[in-house]
This record gives sequence, structure tokens and C-alpha cells, in this order.
Amino acid sequence: MGGTGTNLRAILESGFPVELVVSHRAGVGALDIAAQFQIPTRIVLKRDFPEREAFDAELRRQLAEHAIERVAMAGFLRWLTPATIQQFEGAIVNLHPSLLPAFPGLHAIERAYEAGVLWSGVSVHFVDEGQDTGPVVAQIPVPRLPQDSLDEFRTRIHAAEHRLYPRVLRAVDGGETALYNGQVVYHTKEDAAWMHGRS
Ligand code: GRF
Repeated sequence: MGGTGTNLRAILESGFPVELVVSHRAGVGALDIAAQFQIPTRIVLKRDFPEREAFDAELRRQLAEHAIERVAMAGFLRWLTPATIQQFEGAIVNLHPSLLPAFPGLHAIERAYEAGVLWSGVSVHFVDEGQDTGPVVAQIPVPRLPQDSLDEFRTRIHAAEHRLYPRVLRAVDGGETALYNGQVVYHTKEDAAWMHGRS
């Protein structure tokens, strides 16, 4: 986690068990929220590990030390190396504030707003080696209303994130969905309504 931590808060308030919070920045809100919920935290700074391989090796070391098997990213702005992706294949998900594959990368909310789209949304995807390119697990569309300021639009997007991410983490953790041969499979017989944010 690297951001203000609002998604971490939503995840923790949903009761989802988080065992470790790793940030690549010191002094961020996510670390305070983790402390409030008495979750262990670790900080891995780029300054201390300027090479991507060394940064990721430290990340993997921290995860191993806490016996972490699954990783949920939210605002973690470091590209993971192939070694990490392979070790955690199908076990790392990321949250992105657009309807992928539209607007991958940074400033997705602002770019969607400026592009004048009528709909954007939020996506959760398994992480692969590209930038926000991994197989999508769940999405919610979010309208951009004609009178919306950027702030109003952003607030609606974040509210959708807070609704979707905890539910998707439960589904991944509980084996309702998984990555199989590079494809997302859903194990529930009935329509997995949560993947469209409907439960
Ligand atoms: C979210 O908008 C997420 O989609 C993006 O980074 C932001 C993190 O926000 N990848 P927060 O730190 O959870 O408030």
C-alpha cells in the first residue's frame, strides 16, 4: 500500500483478515490505519533499494517472514519484477480506478474526467508483468454526471472501490475465483454477482 489508505480502512472495517501492511512510503495514512487496527507494518523504501530486483527481494523477504501467501495492492506504485510475479502467480491482485483496459497507469481518474467519458469505474485484476494489464476479476461502472466536478467524480470512484475491493478479496481468499492458465475462473455455480459489484 502506498496511498492514503482509504481502501485499507474499508478492507479492515469489512472484517477481512490482513496480516501485514507493506508501504513503499513512510508517513502515509495506510500505516496509521494499520496501527489503529494493530496490524504489523513494514516500510520498504526505494531510496534504500534503488534497484528493482533488490527492492523486490526485500519485499519478498518481508512477505516470507510473515508467511504471506496472498497480496492485495492499493496505491502501491512500484512495478513488481517477474520473479515476484512468478512466485505469487494468481495470488496478487491490484485495484485500479478505471474500467480497464481503459486508462491504465497513473492519474486514471483525472484522465477519464478530462477525456469527457460518460462512464468510468473501478477494476480489480490479477497482477501480471504489464502495467494494469492482468486479467480482470471484477469491475463496477461509475457514471460521470454532466455537472460533476473532478472532486465529485473522484469521490464516487473511491466509494465504488471501497464497496468492491473487500468483497473481491473475500472471493479470491475463499477460492470463489482464481487464475487458471492465465484466465480468471469463477467457481460459484450461480452468477458471481459480486464481480459486477452487485453483492
Ligand atoms: C486507489 O484509487 C487505487 O485505485 C489506486 O490508488 C488509490 C489508493 O487509494 N491504485 P487509498 O490509499 O486506498 O486511499
